[in-house]
Amino acid sequence: MPKHKSLDHMVSDWINHWNNGSMAKFQVNHPHGKLEEHYDKYILGRKKAKIFVPLCGTMFDMYCLADKGHEIVGIECSDLAIKTFFSKHKLHYHQEHCDDVKGTLYKSDDGKIKIYCCDLFDFKLHLEGKFDVILDFGSMGAIQKEDLQPYADMMKRLMGDNCRHILECFVYDTNKYSDCHPNCFSLNDLQALFGDCCSVEKMDEGPNPYEDEFLTSEETNYQDNSFQQVYPQITGTAYFLIKPKV
Ligand SMILES: C[S@@+](CC[C@H](N)C(=O)[O-])C[C@H]1O[C@@H](n2cnc3c(N)ncnc32)[C@H](O)[C@@H]1O
Repeated sequence: MPKHKSLDHMVSDWINHWNNGSMAKFQVNHPHGKLEEHYDKYILGRKKAKIFVPLCGTMFDMYCLADKGHEIVGIECSDLAIKTFFSKHKLHYHQEHCDDVKGTLYKSDDGKIKIYCCDLFDFKLHLEGKFDVILDFGSMGAIQKEDLQPYADMMKRLMGDNCRHILECFVYDTNKYSDCHPNCFSLNDLQALFGDCCSVEKMDEGPNPYEDEFLTSEETNYQDNSFQQVYPQITGTAYFLIKPKV
């Protein structure tokens, strides 16, 4: 078992990954096909859904969903990632210190996109209230195993009554690769984490959509390494839909 790093240490590792350029290969420059395909399942006809994106990085869909009229609140520990997101989409923004999260709030001038630059676990319910949608794309996969239950408990607190939480994670054989990162989850794992007050269903499963991005990203120094070489265990991705029990 790897040693449990302190959260501060984890966050500074991520900030370093952004600063030394090694996160560039993970940036996707188009909407996520599965989010478009399953749009109705999480938007439920809402014209202005309030969407939470924990560990958002530069997730392209934040821009697309705001453009459709929805309200985005992201959390990301790297200032560089947040500034990259706003500049990529040519969005004017302003920033202000936020004591409550011991960090900075970045806000697009039209007010549709807010990204808190902080450790996720410093974010508090009273800052933005509850959400209609949670988009968890690689987020729960990225945190340490010891933090999974606190993470799930936080998502449950942030869910509004009719919230739809979409979770994307990688798929691999956990018998063969028992202690790998990023984390992957079975339906049973998610039911254990969320099942006390939510239902969980598997919505979809498919090939890994990031494989090609990894090779073709112009910004990366890693073109020579295929996704398969870096993450030999990963065979695909799975999508789960988590809803509060009524
Ligand atoms: C695997 S990436 C996911 C990116 C994004 N969801 C996407 O689809 O492109 C994880 C991101 O979370 C950020 N991060 C990791 N731990 C964090 C924490 N405890 N609080 C805030 N951000 C964190 C990292 O800097 C990184 O950008």
